Amino acid sequence: MDKTAKVVLDGQEYELPVVVGTEDEVGIDISKFRGTSGAITLDSGYANTGSCKSEICFIDGEKGILRYRGYPIEQLAEHAKFPEVAYLLINGELPTAAQYESFRQDLTYHSMIHEDMKKFFEGFRHTAHPMAILSAMVTSLSSYYPEVDDDADDHNIIRLLAKVKTVAAYAYKKSIGQPFVQPQNKLAYCANFLHMMFAVPTEPYEVDPVLEDALNVLLILHADHEQNCSTSTVRMVGSSQANLYASMSAGISALWGPLHGGANQKVIEMLNMIQQDGGGIDKYVAKAKDKSDPFRLFGFGHRVYKNFDPRATILRKSAESVLDRLGVHDPMLEIARQLEEVALKDEYFIERNLYPNVDFYSGIIYRAMGIPTDMFTVMFALGRLPGWIAHWKELRNDPSSRINRPRQIYTGAGERDYVGIADRG
Ligand code: ACO
Repeated sequence: MDKTAKVVLDGQEYELPVVVGTEDEVGIDISKFRGTSGAITLDSGYANTGSCKSEICFIDGEKGILRYRGYPIEQLAEHAKFPEVAYLLINGELPTAAQYESFRQDLTYHSMIHEDMKKFFEGFRHTAHPMAILSAMVTSLSSYYPEVDDDADDHNIIRLLAKVKTVAAYAYKKSIGQPFVQPQNKLAYCANFLHMMFAVPTEPYEVDPVLEDALNVLLILHADHEQNCSTSTVRMVGSSQANLYASMSAGISALWGPLHGGANQKVIEMLNMIQQDGGGIDKYVAKAKDKSDPFRLFGFGHRVYKNFDPRATILRKSAESVLDRLGVHDPMLEIARQLEEVALKDEYFIERNLYPNVDFYSGIIYRAMGIPTDMFTVMFALGRLPGWIAHWKELRNDPSSRINRPRQIYTGAGERDYVGIADRG
């Protein structure tokens, strides 16, 4: 028999259907509750609200589990290539060798940016944050590639995945006043991006395989994370049937905030501040615990993980090995390790289940790779793009999906009469 839940409101009992997921997660379906009871459910910040059913990503925050389409993140990070993971997220299955080859080629042959679009970059100040450039350029792509036929979505998905790495690298070149470097068809996805970032016309550039491997792992770890703030934004915007580019641009804007993807930039700024202040960890842990101080330990805490973020566990090891292989000694890594050690033993952090999240160690790896701090969130966006696309596509293909439109409890003034400006005092 199907499970149900009962709610008693003003003495009246309501029976609500219960939805059970693949991993036995339980959701009470309240979609018809207002119709029968007149009441809504209130959940500020959506801490306990499921907004959709989805087949893409599974997280068990209590156990520290993350899987894409059933595959454990640890296995994908160790063995897969980023385009393979992108294919998996978007299409539901790992590609066969032939499918992978064709996908890889598509991602290569659509990498160039329309010559006219390159002029858009001229309009930005050289000080512009690359996230501002990225979101503007992604939405601008819709003016070049409108949805004109039935296969438009599939074509646009390929174009977007292929071109965003070029836009991201151009945003960086713009900020340092160097000429844009064209993508090269002989290079794989990650190598092509690194080439466009770091090659200069005056000397040959060979992609360092250590950087390529490190980038591959970082992008895979960021590729999806179910209904996080930016993905929910993509679904929210996509639910009005806004086009792919507009929906992704909205996701990029949501990601930018320091409580979400922008935290990777904030972590390095925080570690820098601690270093410049003499390296005293305790003062900053005390500040983070002080409720009258707005300071938080960036890279700590997560809405869903109440245990180690499995991505942070992988990145902690990866940071050590990448710095080692590159021969980089970064005092930030030492400060980060000490900060983690102190925080994990502190009652405040233990009680609240605050552990390092994915952003805590990623910035240290990006720094060692030579990527500047204000590009970190762009790197996150590059990784998260396939996840956003997968969710947008799932929503688009779901005949039962409706425009997303939450309700509210109004707490403003009661009805009152308009008073003319002359009589307002
Ligand atoms: N430093 C100090 N205290 C913290 C931190 C932190 N980083 N994170 C949470 N807390 C405290 C809160 O003050 C709160 O304490 P209280 O119960 O005494 O009021 C408690 O822990 C719960 O925190 P909330 O803010 O209610 O948790 P929420 O789920 O809303 O927020 C978030 C999660 C935004 C990630 C939060 O932990 C945070 O601000 N972390 C720092 C920013 C960060 O690293 N963001 C990246 C997240 S991962 C990602 O998006 C990729």
